[in-house]
Amino acid sequence: MYKITVIPGDGIGREVMEGAKLILDELNLNLSINEANAGNGCFKKTGTTLPEETLKKAKSSDAVLFGATTSTPNEKSPIITLRKELKTYANLRPIKSFKGVKCIYDDLDFLIVRENTEGLYSQKEEIIKENQEIHALRIITKKASEKIAEIGFKQCENKNYKNITCVHKSNVLKKTDGIFKESFYKIAKKYPNIKTNDYYVDATAMYLIRKPQEFGVIVTSNLFGDILSDEAAGLVGGLGFAPSANIGDEHGLFEPVHGSAPDISGKNISNPTAMLLTVSIMLDYLKEYEISKNLKIAIEKTLKEKKVLTPDLGGINSTIEMTKAIKNKL
Ligand code: NAI
Ligand code: MG
Repeated sequence: MYKITVIPGDGIGREVMEGAKLILDELNLNLSINEANAGNGCFKKTGTTLPEETLKKAKSSDAVLFGATTSTPNEKSPIITLRKELKTYANLRPIKSFKGVKCIYDDLDFLIVRENTEGLYSQKEEIIKENQEIHALRIITKKASEKIAEIGFKQCENKNYKNITCVHKSNVLKKTDGIFKESFYKIAKKYPNIKTNDYYVDATAMYLIRKPQEFGVIVTSNLFGDILSDEAAGLVGGLGFAPSANIGDEHGLFEPVHGSAPDISGKNISNPTAMLLTVSIMLDYLKEYEISKNLKIAIEKTLKEKKVLTPDLGGINSTIEMTKAIKNKL
């Protein structure tokens, strides 16, 4: 029996999580699903965006499925805190073009591996002078840099990606990104058969538009990975197609890349694909490879058929209608 904690959160996080639960119910799995609160709505009720009870449930489950939350001005982000608390140091964000979906490129299949625990997302900001000068701390350690490089090389090897690129800004951030790049090339020595490369982040932003086919695995720090993965999602149809996994030595936390999308929330028109692809990655993590594959095939068929689609895909259907169409193909 797998213990899964689901955290719907706010906005479309709740809508796509309804779909995820519908699909999980349909799969022939022995699951115990435990719901937990987080986010802005939770803050209004309880005074915190991430209650202790949610953290406890997350830590005691086999996997955590997270929807999306709306930011609050003064509270810590629940997802960033969860990633840290669960020590999920690697954020894996696959970018893939699907048949039937209008993409800028229809031949992409690469993976962004983002360091998840430090960088500019250490959430350490110090007020030097109120409203005048505030410093944000960008932490880069050799330990975390080597760990994330190792995950990148393992993913490249296991999933047969064509090469691996380290993305940094070591020409300006000489010391911090100096270690990041050095760590990457240190780990590279263990994988002599994998083709390696490194680019500056600004050039990478341009290469992602000009020649994204050339990428296999991209290994990068926290903020750069966040920005580049939204950009890359734009190449394959948008955030409705971007799933992600946060992996550590003890926990797995799974979430679509998108946020709570206040511009479309409440209309039940969000694309459920990113969330359902996320469920499929979670099933791989639980070693339910066959069921995961079936879910992926059901998603691909629904997209290719183009009969039941949400408005971002040119359709007229609701989130739950598209989810049900996928369910019927399982
Ligand atoms: P967003 O990802 O919520 O939305 C960006 C754009 O993509 C919007 O136009 C939205 O309509 C569209 N979009 C996103 N997911 C979609 C889907 N499944 N189907 C169709 N269209 C989709 O990012 P935004 O607008 O920058 O942030 C909104 C809120 O979400 C903010 O409060 C932000 O802090 C929060 N956020 C939360 C995240 C999380 O919980 N992991 C991640 C990113 C943002
Ligand atoms: Mg983001």
